[in-house]
Amino acid sequence: FNVPEAINEPVKSYAPGTPERAALQAELTKLRAEVRDIPMYIGGEEIRTGNTKPLSPPHDIHHTIANFHEGDKSHVEQAINASLGAKEEWNKLSWEHRASIFLKAADLIAGPYRARINAATMLAQSKTAFQAEIDSACEFIDFLRFNVKFMTEIYQEQPVSAPGIWNRLEQRPLEGFVFAITPFNFTAIAGNLPAAPAMMGNTVVWKPSEDQIYSAQVIMEVFIEAGLPEGVINLVYVDGPEAGEVVFNHPDFAGLHFTGSTGVFQHLWKTIGENIAKYKTYPRIVGETGGKDFILAHKSADAKALATAIIRGAFEFQGQKCSAASRVYIPRNLWPEVEAYLQEDIKDIIENRSGMPEDFKNFFTAVINERSFDKIAGFIDRAKESNVADVIAGGGYDKSKGYFVEPTIIKVEDPHYESMVQEIFGPVVSIYVYDTEYFDEAIYLVDNTSEYALTGAIFSQDRYAAEHATQKLQNAAGNFYINDKPTGAVVGQQPFGGARASGTNDKAGSALNLLRWVSPRTIKETLV
Ligand code: NAD
Ligand code: ALA
Repeated sequence: FNVPEAINEPVKSYAPGTPERAALQAELTKLRAEVRDIPMYIGGEEIRTGNTKPLSPPHDIHHTIANFHEGDKSHVEQAINASLGAKEEWNKLSWEHRASIFLKAADLIAGPYRARINAATMLAQSKTAFQAEIDSACEFIDFLRFNVKFMTEIYQEQPVSAPGIWNRLEQRPLEGFVFAITPFNFTAIAGNLPAAPAMMGNTVVWKPSEDQIYSAQVIMEVFIEAGLPEGVINLVYVDGPEAGEVVFNHPDFAGLHFTGSTGVFQHLWKTIGENIAKYKTYPRIVGETGGKDFILAHKSADAKALATAIIRGAFEFQGQKCSAASRVYIPRNLWPEVEAYLQEDIKDIIENRSGMPEDFKNFFTAVINERSFDKIAGFIDRAKESNVADVIAGGGYDKSKGYFVEPTIIKVEDPHYESMVQEIFGPVVSIYVYDTEYFDEAIYLVDNTSEYALTGAIFSQDRYAAEHATQKLQNAAGNFYINDKPTGAVVGQQPFGGARASGTNDKAGSALNLLRWVSPRTIKETLV
């Protein structure tokens, strides 16, 4: 099959004087000056319930940037009906037609919508321009373009035939509708979760996180402008449990595409299990969930590279990447040098590079909401009082203007201390300094103290030690890095996903993921 070649979207620099910086600044100013009215989208119609709720930037909580129209169970029912109603027409379209819509969406984001999607992510999710560029625009473009490539490969895969017998594999969409539930932290993931099943011929009900509604609307506008037919993706803003009650009781529920916390996913899986006899078909369940991502250093590691990986891995986007480094194991021989680098960088971030994301010099801004702020502050307070943990950098927080928590390091004496094992999802990294010659014990701790297995990294200039850790930690991470930070997987290059409590590991942006959204039919024709 001949489709446009999938190439990773080049990341723009937003350096002073560049056209992309001017465009982004103009878009930020425009969005800042408006209070957007955000409808739901059901069956191609904009739905305004009149039950509006305000949205504010997490870094500027006294300013309203939008009001969204909240729906209830009846809107979820309407969205399900719209998706079921759109299915036949959507399936009649050739796969080339479906692909062209999503390729057009990718081009729109790469071009006219780039500033809009990045500005929306910066304002509503408090990402810096660079983080918005890599995690919203580029990653989303890559998801769309690479998924089209994987889709064509899936459709090409056919069984062998024999003289007089023609065998075929038909990749049917699932029988029913797919429910996409998306998290606040990656605009790209929010777009991919409804887009991937839709690309494979399914129709979708999409419920974003409340903290991500502002950029979800931009994604929806892009899909519509790209030519997505009415009812193929229906966007509803309904409280999670309320939406779930309607969806998981519906006989046509055919698949869940979820990204979010482990607790929510396990609850949804149980609900689906309890209702299993109600469904026409066993639903596909795909979930990318929490993490407690590690960096393990060997005594041969380069101290500066390690410190840089900790700072970027733990504190970019305020530690709110599922892949963020949040527990680090450092041998005693390296610790003094690594600590000096970390203290210097954190001081510089706090004093010179923290604040509003609209200020392009900033590296660090606010965390997503008050619930998250309080949870993170709780971990910091308990560490300050603990006998087995010490806050050695950062540790301050203030929610008077926005949800600001300083980049914080907790040094622990006990590798089982709560901040070493629980997902905090904020700018807090815990460090355990181990006896230099006890590398195998450190490996054991990495593998056995956390229930998660999303990302992890080994730093070592000794190739044998790196290989040893790679083998021993086979099941500790779905994305494993050697001498690099554990964040920043690129679609098409490092397929992303974790196992254990971190998810079903269906690798977002890969053929594996797309295969979950089809139900193959084998056809054998005896030629007469
Ligand atoms: P969350 O679990 O709080 O919410 C995720 C989504 O689930 C939201 O849309 C929310 O409204 C919805 N939800 C909550 N309860 C529900 C219910 N009972 N029924 C239906 N929907 C419900 O997660 P979050 O705070 O938005 O995102 C952060 C979490 O996501 C972290 O745990 C992070 O590790 C994880 N995450 C994982 C990956 C990955 O690839 N593994 C990627 C991004 C985020
Ligand atoms: N691409 C994102 C990361 O790896 C999920 O951090």
